[in-house]
Amino acid sequence: MAYQVEYATEQDASELGIINNDSFRERALLPVIFPKSSEPSLRAYKAIHVPKHLADPKTHVLKVTDPASGTIVGYGRWYIPTELGIEPHVPELSEQGQVYAKDPVAFAPQPMNMRVFTAFKAMLEEGRKRHTTERDMMLDILATLPSHQGRGVGSAILRWGCEKADALQVRIYLEATPEGYPLYVKYGWKAVENVDFDMNELGAHGVDDFVFMIRDPKPA
Ligand SMILES: CC(C)(COP(=O)(O)OP(=O)(O)OC[C@H]1O[C@@H](n2cnc3c(N)ncnc32)[C@H](O)[C@@H]1OP(=O)(O)O)[C@@H](O)C(=O)NCCC(=O)NCCS
Repeated sequence: MAYQVEYATEQDASELGIINNDSFRERALLPVIFPKSSEPSLRAYKAIHVPKHLADPKTHVLKVTDPASGTIVGYGRWYIPTELGIEPHVPELSEQGQVYAKDPVAFAPQPMNMRVFTAFKAMLEEGRKRHTTERDMMLDILATLPSHQGRGVGSAILRWGCEKADALQVRIYLEATPEGYPLYVKYGWKAVENVDFDMNELGAHGVDDFVFMIRDPKPA
């Protein structure tokens, strides 16, 4: 099926929160950062983060809706430097959305393991510093509802960004999970670094592995 990719809106936040939580729930990180939180509270917290991304002119939040049910089944966030000339898509936010956008972490369920959270953010940030330049695009997140995986939803969102990157002749950087890795290889990404995020060194338990990857544009 050829899925249509559209910009997400503030009204989509709760559906995106569900997809984010449910597609990443097998990873070690989430239960370490939020050891006592219920699934509904984590889904709601993920939804609270959406307005911040919508408000950022460099971030393009895209969704794919299942035409049969009308529900959103996948989404992605592309980071595109403003100077590349792609028109920003910044919807006006509700008052509540503006509050959430300012500081979503203030609404985090408790307890929250700030040590692991901060180390995780730093690990991503340092990788981006090592591997990216100011002109690189990034795929910040890609997630498909588990019930809809393997049907081309993720590919549709990848094609949206790859077409832009090829037209602009820029690279795309991302941090792949083992689940996403084969798909990224298929679309032209190459591994540049393997990182095991070891939470045992941070007083917690578990390791989440990532592959940092870069896709060069197809020759014009
Ligand atoms: C990684 C992820 C986003 C992929 O999304 P997806 O919607 O399942 O991706 P696609 O359906 O486009 O592609 C996945 C596979 O299904 C295949 N596929 C695509 N269309 C298909 C169809 N119509 N019928 C059957 N299979 C299909 C693809 O070829 C691909 O398989 P292959 O790589 O072995 O060739 C999804 O698995 C996910 O959300 N995982 C958890 C979160 C995560 O790890 N995200 C990545 C962060 S970097």
